[in-house]
Amino acid sequence: MEVVIVADAEAAGAIAAGIVERLLGTKPACVIGVATGSSPVITYRRLVEAFCAGRITFAGAHAVLLDEYVGLPADHPQRYRRFVHEQLVEHVDLPVEHVHAPDVDTQDLAEAGRRYEALLTELGGVDVQLLGIGSDGHVGFNEPGSSLRSRTRIKTLTAATRADNARFFANLDAVPRHVMTQGLATIGDARHLVLIACGVGKAPPIAAAVEGPLTASCPASILQLHPHVTVVIDEAAASGLTHAAYYRETHAGKPSWQHY
Ligand code: F6R
Repeated sequence: MEVVIVADAEAAGAIAAGIVERLLGTKPACVIGVATGSSPVITYRRLVEAFCAGRITFAGAHAVLLDEYVGLPADHPQRYRRFVHEQLVEHVDLPVEHVHAPDVDTQDLAEAGRRYEALLTELGGVDVQLLGIGSDGHVGFNEPGSSLRSRTRIKTLTAATRADNARFFANLDAVPRHVMTQGLATIGDARHLVLIACGVGKAPPIAAAVEGPLTASCPASILQLHPHVTVVIDEAAASGLTHAAYYRETHAGKPSWQHY
């Protein structure tokens, strides 16, 4: 796991966008795993800038969503598919039919989960999966207690996550209780995991995920099992890390030929 500590959210977004930009350059028909929420917004903005500057094309790429709320109408502003369209897809040349999300509008959500897993396999797997982290240590919407081998399925949000996400809704009651999310094993199948976290509120879950025990109580601790993880955090999110000095030293001395 590579932990990259940067000054602020702008710098974090630039690094994450640079990883996707490089992927698009080396593998134009790639599969990008897209997260929602606040954490990847700067990354998407940077990617849009790179596209507008003519440095990248998304024409051959696919985007797969990490998760989606259950129970919101298809045109609801907080639907994650809509979020990804507004933040990224509408501004670049990614074909709309190349944007995939779990089907949360069906009656049979268990089958929808299986179909999503089959789709990810058909696409050849996810090349780079962008991730945020919840204050309770969730990745995707795998809340504490999620099976470490879980696959795409319905989950119930914790009270903490619903309170965190209430800022996007009219009030707490409007926040859905259920989501469909890629499982922890699904996320672990991606070839490169890139987690972005900024702000002091992310310090406890980052410390638990990066340096705590591997446990379902902190689902993001599955990052420790993965052979290629880049955790990009600002100083505030790094403030609970015991080995921060080592991560800084490692990054400062990173060989010029070594990519993220
Ligand atoms: C979103 C997702 C969640 C968020 C997490 C952090 O697709 O899967 O895990 O990444 O809740 O949200 P923000 O970035 O809004 O703090």
